Amino acid sequence: MGACLSHRIKSVSPSTCISSSASRNGNNISCSSSKEFSASIPQTPRSEVEILQSLNLKTFTFSELRTATRNFRPDSVLGEGGFGSVFKGWIDEQSLKPTKPGTGIIIAVKRLNQEGFQGHKEWLAEINYLGQLHHPNLVKLIGYYLEDEHRLLVYEFMVRGSMENHLFRKGSHVPPLSWCIRMKIALGAAKGLAFLHNAKTQVIYRDFKTSNILLNSNYNVKLSDFGLARDGPTGDKSHVSTRVMGTYGYAAPEYLATGHLTAKSDIYSFGVVLLEMLSGRRAIDNNRPSGEHNLVDWAKPYMINKRRIFRVIDTRLQGQYSLNQAQEVANLALQCLAVEPKCRPSMDEVVTALEKLQELREMPKRNQKERRRNGINHSSGKPTT
Ligand SMILES: Nc1ncnc2c1ncn2[C@@H]1O[C@H](COP(=O)(O)OP(=O)(O)O)[C@@H](O)[C@H]1O
Ligand SMILES: [Mg+2]
Repeated sequence: MGACLSHRIKSVSPSTCISSSASRNGNNISCSSSKEFSASIPQTPRSEVEILQSLNLKTFTFSELRTATRNFRPDSVLGEGGFGSVFKGWIDEQSLKPTKPGTGIIIAVKRLNQEGFQGHKEWLAEINYLGQLHHPNLVKLIGYYLEDEHRLLVYEFMVRGSMENHLFRKGSHVPPLSWCIRMKIALGAAKGLAFLHNAKTQVIYRDFKTSNILLNSNYNVKLSDFGLARDGPTGDKSHVSTRVMGTYGYAAPEYLATGHLTAKSDIYSFGVVLLEMLSGRRAIDNNRPSGEHNLVDWAKPYMINKRRIFRVIDTRLQGQYSLNQAQEVANLALQCLAVEPKCRPSMDEVVTALEKLQELREMPKRNQKERRRNGINHSSGKPTT
């Protein structure tokens, strides 16, 4: 989105590694990109055409997507990022042909901005990963369009859009996300990341941030935007060497300094997002007073002091959490934000910690139900009559 886009650290020019004509001719992906596009599941490098053909994705025509989005109407824009704009459209569930608005199923169509920094490489990475990895916490990719310089991606529609909109949208009629929902979102996103890190060939997401966390009507999370994802290190390698890409405020300090990418970089970004959810503040916000621009730098000193944690927590959450819960979440965020990557937990550990927090929250409710079933008045503790 706007603010985050301006914080893009560095992006790849579409023409740096592979030209679109080469891709159409099905040439092997060459130079430094061969590693990047090696599929996460099959280990052998494959040609681009092979990758596209092997995936169960619909190949749309441009005219179908133009009709589905009513000529990419500006008022149907769902969001924008480094790759381009995302439009709302309608297709038939069975035939996947465009339908009239309000009929069939809703789709989200992401269209490459020709003037942007991203291009074919990111488009193919997204297809390669989302075409092969399926999980309840990853967005579903339905199909794509590729011709000349045009690059489009078609996804299932996520009715509540991105978490960024919910967390930071100012002056909107939408009530702020409750503590409970924030924790549910944190857990869903953590499960999505854990799935990627545990994949047969590990996947490092590399751009974990609130605008890439999408929400359906029940606030179930699906991670989207795999343009910057990379296969993790294999064999005895400890890291993958990359050009530094991602988003300021979210990228881990050691990755920024060295370009050495590991799954622990994602854990750091998760810590930043958890802190954003806890505080309702953006990772980078230059509109705040000096000393408060960088959320992590500002919040850390408060978070290590149990009695000062309240300074960090979103005031809109008042009365919705216990001191104990706030401390637990702040602690988890702090661990993820450890300067030393080895000190950060794994995503599995993060999932377990967040699940425990949810159980704690559900316990009183369960107890109440049980007490009622046993004929006990839950407010007085006396048996009901
Ligand atoms: N499937 C979708 N359903 C609803 N909104 C979406 C969907 N995909 C993207 N968006 C909106 O568009 C924005 C940009 O999408 P994203 O995939 O992150 O693009 P980019 O690769 O350009 O960053 C998201 O932050 C979200 O607001
Ligand atoms: Mg994005």
